[in-house]
Amino acid sequence: MKTNLNHSWRFAKGRIAIAEHSPIRNYETVMIPHCVTMFPAQYLNEKDYQGEYTYQLIFDSKDPLPVKILRFEGVMLQFDLYLNGKSLGHYISGYLPVEIDVSDALLPKSNILTVYVDGREDPSIPPFGKVVDYLTFAGIYREVSLLSYPSIYIKDIFVRASASGDVVVKASLSEDSHVTYRVYDREDNLVLETDEERFHISNVHPWSIIDPYLYRLEAVVGNVVESKFFGFRDVSFTPQGFFLNGKRLPLIGLNRHQTFPYFGPAAPKSLQEEDALLLKQSGINVVRTSHYPQSEHFLDACDRLGLLVIDEIPGWQFIGNDPIWVNNCIDFTKRMILKERSHTCLIAYGLRIDESDDNDELYSKIQEQKTFLDPSRQSIGVRNFKDSHCLEDVYGYNDFSCGPLDHGVDPSKEIKGAKGKPILITESNGHMFPTKSFDETTKRAEHAYRHARVLNDVLSDSGYCGAITWCAFDYNTHKDFGSNDHICHHGVYDIFRNPKFAAYFFKSQGKAPVLDVGTSMLPGDYNAAHFPAFYAFTNGDYVDVYKNNRKVGRFYPDTKSFPNLPHPPILIDDIIGDLFDEPNISEEDGKKIVAAFNYCAQNGFENIRLRDKLLMARFMAKYHFSFPDVYQLYTKYIQSWGEGSTLWRFEAFRNEKKIATVLRGPSTDFHLDVSLTRDTLVNWETYDCLSLHIFKKDQYGTTMPYASDPVIVETEGPIEVYGPKLFSLYGGASTIYLRSLPVKSPQEATVKITCMGETLERHFIVKNAE
Ligand code: GAL
Repeated sequence: MKTNLNHSWRFAKGRIAIAEHSPIRNYETVMIPHCVTMFPAQYLNEKDYQGEYTYQLIFDSKDPLPVKILRFEGVMLQFDLYLNGKSLGHYISGYLPVEIDVSDALLPKSNILTVYVDGREDPSIPPFGKVVDYLTFAGIYREVSLLSYPSIYIKDIFVRASASGDVVVKASLSEDSHVTYRVYDREDNLVLETDEERFHISNVHPWSIIDPYLYRLEAVVGNVVESKFFGFRDVSFTPQGFFLNGKRLPLIGLNRHQTFPYFGPAAPKSLQEEDALLLKQSGINVVRTSHYPQSEHFLDACDRLGLLVIDEIPGWQFIGNDPIWVNNCIDFTKRMILKERSHTCLIAYGLRIDESDDNDELYSKIQEQKTFLDPSRQSIGVRNFKDSHCLEDVYGYNDFSCGPLDHGVDPSKEIKGAKGKPILITESNGHMFPTKSFDETTKRAEHAYRHARVLNDVLSDSGYCGAITWCAFDYNTHKDFGSNDHICHHGVYDIFRNPKFAAYFFKSQGKAPVLDVGTSMLPGDYNAAHFPAFYAFTNGDYVDVYKNNRKVGRFYPDTKSFPNLPHPPILIDDIIGDLFDEPNISEEDGKKIVAAFNYCAQNGFENIRLRDKLLMARFMAKYHFSFPDVYQLYTKYIQSWGEGSTLWRFEAFRNEKKIATVLRGPSTDFHLDVSLTRDTLVNWETYDCLSLHIFKKDQYGTTMPYASDPVIVETEGPIEVYGPKLFSLYGGASTIYLRSLPVKSPQEATVKITCMGETLERHFIVKNAE
């Protein structure tokens, strides 16, 4: 039986000695997951969590079962535990769960559970010891529960199943006993019952990224039943690529940090699931949990959604000399594998400290752990140099050679250290081109282009299994990194999970219809009012472009620059096209003039090329044009400074059917757009939370990237805003996080959002899980 211990904790800064044995009623009441401070999204100070904290919970434990285990899913970083005045030891959690047998210390009533959390960066525990480009924050940031069992119980179930129907299970018990296994399909039909730990099921429904079909395994010991979901699938990295169920699947992915604005890492189940869904809908097929084990809710959602995962032991570029550091590293490896080995979505263990030096002694011990705990799954080690000693099964390579615009990654054959082993690009871009959601249009468009460049180059090289680029979301970081706002703006989404152009590039590699164009088409957005050529990001077959309702032309995927992308971006480099209508000029000459004019539009009439000058001279002679005539013709077709009232329409088609339309033009009418994914909040093991993404949009539905209007949020009923209630838009957008409060029965709640003189209301029901 599981009792959730997430409500009504007392919390205090500092180590309150008396809390060991006496209630501390005068302190703040908090809910778990909890971060020790509600940090601002930007300009925070990591020193503000470098401290000790006291958490206390008073609770009853009336059920008569003899074995009681306290389980902490995640406490950053380490803690001392007291129960009813008795010390129960010191524990290091970080990114991994801790279980403590409290059977002998628990009382039926009014237990005083005190957790002294130490969130300080401890150089003897990875990832610490040097600098780290991310923040760990502090607190009891994942759920807490009390597990009650009879004396014989199941501590863990490990299950793996192949696409052909072979299953291997292993239940670890507190004492030797007889275990029965039952397998149920998705409709809960019993498929098989057996006492064997190896068995075969014929005609299984395989798990895949398109059809993530999960079965349920029950392990039964006496009255104790434990369940685990699992899928039948085969995964393997080979020098010829990555294979899922025997078919080559080029991996396309993003790295994910688990932190959110305001919450830090203390984001509840629903936000973990929102992230998994957002990533699944981003056109990618794999995510790397850089650089540490992440929430089980996130991994469960990846199992259900069919999003592949590569995990990673905690660390960043540094290996400690101290034997305690090394022991902690090995211990974390064991604990990560034990936590994650039954996840169907997990295709490899990341068993090397990200970008660390070679260290055969440490890494062979780590490989031994993997072989012992799960020989079936491959391991990957991520480094940023090409000739590294690879003890893992897959060579993970962070390639930051993408400085020049025309270069994505170096060829796989240069990666000498792989010595025939499979290679996966595990990072690129990131700090090479940090991009804010409120950066100028050209920068945001180039950011998307650079991701396209890297991915195309990787997919063009059969020596690579794919690419996981840096990174999914902007993240809070130490003062020594980032843009001094304590954010690394490396995400294809901003820190609030709102998309930059690059997110649309990734979405366009997926199947769901999408179109965005990397331009504002507004002269003031570009130096000297020149319009650079731009890309449309779409999975349509082509894009039709209209200027003031008149067709400019049809544009096709740029297969020349991106021959190996599933959906190459579409280059739009002609803004005159079919509009050129000069009866006195021959068609052939017209085409040449259009090309010259487009070049001038992109680079400035004053920068006209010599060859175009000569061309113009010829036309002037041929058609008796003066120079002012030519210039007049140019300005007839190319909108210039002060002539902004042009409406551009882009329409993407697939199989001759329109799949999406984007409009760009001068913005005159503005409104607030609120995306609402659900209207019910359910208090489950702890509070629920939903994110409301808000955008300032114009009459064409385009987000206004430079808008920073103030927003006021008010709530009524059993919900609260987690974060500020008065804030400014950020890149024309932001996100409001609404948390549910405890209720006895279903209750209505309202949020009111005031922005630009308008108030929008959204209504919710808050209820308890059945
Ligand atoms: C890598 C590192 C990442 C992140 C990234 C920024 O070197 O592995 O954690 O810092 O750089 O581009």
